[in-house]
Amino acid sequence: MPEIARLILDGKTYELPVLTGTEGEKAVDIRRLREESGYITLDDGYGNTGSCQSAITFIDGDQGILRYRGYDIQELAEHSTFIETAWLLIYGELPTVEQAEGFSALLTEQAMLHTDTLHHFEGFPEHAPPMAILSAMLNVMACQHPELLKIENEAQLLMGSAKIISKVRTIAAFAYRKSKGLPFNDPHPDYKYCGNFLHMMFSIPYHHYEVHPDIERALNLFMILHADHEQNCSTSTVRIVGSARTNLFTSVSAGVCALWGPLHGGANVEVVQMLDEIVKTGKNPREFIERAKDKSSGFKLSGFGHRVYKNFDPRARILKASVEKVLKIVGIRDKSLEVAMQMEDLALKDPYFIERKLYPNVDFYSGILLRAIGIPADMFTVMFAIGRTPGWISNWKELLDQGGRINRPRQIYTGKTLRPYVGREDR
Ligand code: CMC
Repeated sequence: MPEIARLILDGKTYELPVLTGTEGEKAVDIRRLREESGYITLDDGYGNTGSCQSAITFIDGDQGILRYRGYDIQELAEHSTFIETAWLLIYGELPTVEQAEGFSALLTEQAMLHTDTLHHFEGFPEHAPPMAILSAMLNVMACQHPELLKIENEAQLLMGSAKIISKVRTIAAFAYRKSKGLPFNDPHPDYKYCGNFLHMMFSIPYHHYEVHPDIERALNLFMILHADHEQNCSTSTVRIVGSARTNLFTSVSAGVCALWGPLHGGANVEVVQMLDEIVKTGKNPREFIERAKDKSSGFKLSGFGHRVYKNFDPRARILKASVEKVLKIVGIRDKSLEVAMQMEDLALKDPYFIERKLYPNVDFYSGILLRAIGIPADMFTVMFAIGRTPGWISNWKELLDQGGRINRPRQIYTGKTLRPYVGREDR
């Protein structure tokens, strides 16, 4: 017998079905509430609203659990690669050897940008934000591939996904090279996904960048940890845009735009800027903690807090361990890591953070890791975007498979009621 919730409005009882997910999460199904009662529910920020049913990623924020398709993030971080994880997210199962090799070969084949699209890079000013370039170039891909604007079969989905996953990396590296006034490096077929990105970023004429396997592994780890995170702001954006049956390239481009914001993917840049300021000026980290606690300051401690995690963010823990390892490999003593750990310590003992269950999130340590790899701060959010791309694609695909309705929330109108038009001379 399905459970029923009862809601009494104006003396009338409405029976609302209760849905239970495979991990025991419960939801009151209000889909027919307005039709039956005239009432809607209000939940600005959607903190209490399930916008879809999804079989991709499971998070238990109270216990710090994150799983992709049932696999724990810690296990994937230890054993998987980004590309294998991408396949898992999109298709629901880990790839067979044949599938993995086929996908890898397709990504290699699709890594280059069409030469007709390269002139776009010349049009961007030197200081163009790479997130803007990435978003724009994804729409350029939509122009380039009319045959994939409507995805109607598995072959088209595979091709569209491979093009996007492979080319976002090339676009990102080219955006960086453009900002530095350096020639573009074509992708090299001998490299795997992350190694190829490092090559495109850092090889210079007459000096081939040597891809250190541990650095490549750390980048894989970074990408795996960012690959999906259920209905976050950018993924919800992709689903909203996709619900209008907008093409895959443009839907992913919209995800990039949403990710850019400092409350979302942009937080990794803010964290490093804050840590650098502390290191350079010798300011006391406590000052930043106090400022974050003062609501009138409008300042939030970047890299802290999460809508869902109220215990710890498992991604932050894994990243912190990786940062320490990578810093040893590259032989750098990054003072910002020491400051970060000091801040974490201070915050975790502070009643403000304890009461509000604010813990370091994925962005708190990711910037330090990326910088140790040699990636500059203005590329951090782009790195997040490359990592999140399979998650966006898998959510877009799921939405399409579900054949759902266009996403269209309601509102409570709080403006003026009907009034007569006032002529210009009478205003
Ligand atoms: N510094 C200071 N106070 C905070 C912070 C913070 N970083 N985060 C939350 N709070 C306060 C918030 O003001 C609220 O206080 P009160 O109850 O007194 O009004 C309380 O903690 C609860 O906040 P919340 O409702 O849990 O926050 P939210 O779900 O609306 O926002 C967030 C989540 C991630 C946007 C927010 O924590 C934040 O702005 N953090 C800093 C930016 C950041 O690190 N973003 C990256 C998020 S993880 C990666 C990603 O998804 O992109």
